[in-house]
Amino acid sequence: MNFEALKPKVTEIIIQFDISKDEKLTKICQLLQDAIPYYNWVGFYFANHETQTLHLGSYVGAETDHTVIPFGKGICGQVAVSNQNFVVPDVSAQDNYIACSLTVKSEIVVPIFVEGKNIGQIDIDSHVLDPFTSEDERFLEFVTQEVAKLF
Ligand code: SME
Repeated sequence: MNFEALKPKVTEIIIQFDISKDEKLTKICQLLQDAIPYYNWVGFYFANHETQTLHLGSYVGAETDHTVIPFGKGICGQVAVSNQNFVVPDVSAQDNYIACSLTVKSEIVVPIFVEGKNIGQIDIDSHVLDPFTSEDERFLEFVTQEVAKLF
């Protein structure tokens, strides 16, 4: 399914009135993982600015040990500090990277802003080398803007 067709489906989940925020986030993870063949792990991390740590929220894909990530550590931790999208075409070329599984070849992280504050991020791992384009970034920026409405 293409990104334009996915956007209204994301919005549909966001505006559902009978399920919790966490259920909505899980449904979005599932939608994206089902629709995009190279999205193999899809999850959300949320920031605790007091402790300077990221905390794993809803996700689909392999279980991960990395439920808490300090700001600055790994791809996710760097995005907590930089407030910028981070596209990693080849994780083996990164020094500051937290490996979850050897099957992961690439990763994209896009921050979520609420009233200008970076409150967390969507994190996607792929088993494919260099699959992400600027279209993924624009689509995931749409997703994070929709998710921001829940906060
Ligand atoms: N690879 C990430 C850690 C989180 S897992 O991908 C689920 C990182 O380097 O921050």
